Amino acid sequence: MAKVFFGQIIHTKSLNDFEIFTSGFIAVDQNGKIVGVGNEFVYDEWLTQHTNFKGATVERLSNDQFLMPGFVDCHIHAPQVAQIGLGLDMPLLDWLNTYTFPLEAKYADQKFAQKTYAKVVENTIKAGTTLASYFGTNHKESTLILAKEALRQGQRALIGKVCSNQNSPEFYVETTDKSIASTEEFVKDIQKLETDLVKPTITPRFALSCTKELMAKLGEIAHKNDLHIQSHISENLSEIDFVKSLYNTSYAEAYDNAGLLTPKTVMAHAVHLDDEEITLFGKRGTSVAHCPASNNMLSSGLCDVLRLIKNGIKVGLGTDVSGGNSMSIQDAILRALDVSHHLEFVKKQEIKGSGRLEVQDQAYQPLNYKQAIFLATLGGAEALALSNITGNFAIGKYFDALIVDTSNYPLHNYNASNDNKSPDLILLEMIQKFIYVGDDRNILRVFVAGNQIKN
Ligand code: GUN
Ligand code: FE
Repeated sequence: MAKVFFGQIIHTKSLNDFEIFTSGFIAVDQNGKIVGVGNEFVYDEWLTQHTNFKGATVERLSNDQFLMPGFVDCHIHAPQVAQIGLGLDMPLLDWLNTYTFPLEAKYADQKFAQKTYAKVVENTIKAGTTLASYFGTNHKESTLILAKEALRQGQRALIGKVCSNQNSPEFYVETTDKSIASTEEFVKDIQKLETDLVKPTITPRFALSCTKELMAKLGEIAHKNDLHIQSHISENLSEIDFVKSLYNTSYAEAYDNAGLLTPKTVMAHAVHLDDEEITLFGKRGTSVAHCPASNNMLSSGLCDVLRLIKNGIKVGLGTDVSGGNSMSIQDAILRALDVSHHLEFVKKQEIKGSGRLEVQDQAYQPLNYKQAIFLATLGGAEALALSNITGNFAIGKYFDALIVDTSNYPLHNYNASNDNKSPDLILLEMIQKFIYVGDDRNILRVFVAGNQIKN
C-alpha cells in the first residue's frame, strides 16, 4: 500500500552534507521504495505527476517526532550477545580464549541458537538497526537459523558463517575441507531463501585463525559468486605481531594475497593500519567498520577514522558485540565521538615532561555529530556496499527508517514554539537531544522496505 509521511525529516547525502526538512514529505510505494521526498509545499505539485498516490495512506508525525534513516551496524557477532558485558577487563586474545570460543562452540546446539538468535534480532531492531552485518559461528546450520530469524523479523542483514581452521581450541576449529564445503553450502542455502533482505557474506574469522590455503579458497568463492566479505584487521598489537609472523607480510597483504580485499569487503577495527595498508585498502575499495566501544573495552587502541576517510576509505560503525558492550549504533555514535575527541587531545598535547614540546596536529578537527550520524547510516551502507538500496532517503532506495520521538523519557524535550527559535534550530536541537541523551525508548517505530518491524 502506498504511503506518505509528513513531518520533520533528516538524512545525510555525504559526510558533510546533512539535509533536514522541517516540514517535509516522503512517499513510499507498495514495494517499500521511496518515490518522492522534499518540502511539503511541493507535495501538491509532486502529486500531479504521481496521481497513483492520490489514494495513498497519509501519516503525519507529531511536532516532537522526526524521521531518519535506520542505523547500520557494520560489525556484530550475534552469538556473543549471550555473554555481553563479560570479560571486558582482558585484551583480545585472552578474551577470545577465555570467554568467546567456549561460548561460540555451544552453537553446535541449534535449539540454543534458535532461542538466542530470535532475541538478538529482536533487540537490534529495538535499538534501531535496520541493516546489520552479522558474524555467526563456525556452524552452518545455526548460522542459517540466524539468517532465517533476520528474514522472519524483517531486518536487512548480511550473514556470515565464520571460518577458522587453525590457532583455535580443538573444541572450536574446522578442517579446511569442512570449512570450505560448509561455506559453499551456506551460500546456496541463503540463496534458496530467495530474498533481497538477507545475503551471505564470506567470513574468515581473522588471518590468525585461517590458513593461507583456506583464505585463498574463500577469496575464490567470493569472486566466483560476487559475494560480500567481512573479517577483522589490525585490532590489537599482539594479534598483529602474530599475523605478521605467520604470513611474513603486512596484515592487509595477508588478506590481499588471498583476493579478500574487494569493494564488497568490510574489515572491522583497522586501528593500527600503516600508510601502505591504507593505500592498499584505497586501491581495492575495501571499507572499515569502526568499532569504538570494543576498541576501548579490549584496550585495542584509538582508531583515527578521519585519517581513513581522508584517504578515501569508506567507513561505517560497528557495535562489535560482545567486544563492544552495547547493541546500539546510537551508542556507537557517542563512542565514536568520544574517541575522536580523545584523539584531538592526544594530537594537540604538548609533552613537556621530557623537555620536548610536541604537537602532532594542532588543526585536528574531531568528528561532529552530523558526521557521526552519516557514519551510522549512509556511511555504513556504503561500507557494506549496499548504499544503492539503503542508507538515506534518496529516491529509488528502500524506506529503511526510524521514527524518533523526543517527547518521552529521557529527553525531556518540550515544545519550544514560544522561544522564537527557527524551525531549523528546533529540529537540530531535537536531533542533538536524541543523539547525546536518548536511547531505544525514543525509537518509536522501525521500518525496513516500508514494513514496520517494531512498534
Ligand atoms: N578477532 C577475531 N575474532 C574476534 C572477535 O570475536 N571479536 C573481536 N573483537 N575481534 C576478533
Ligand atoms: Fe568482531
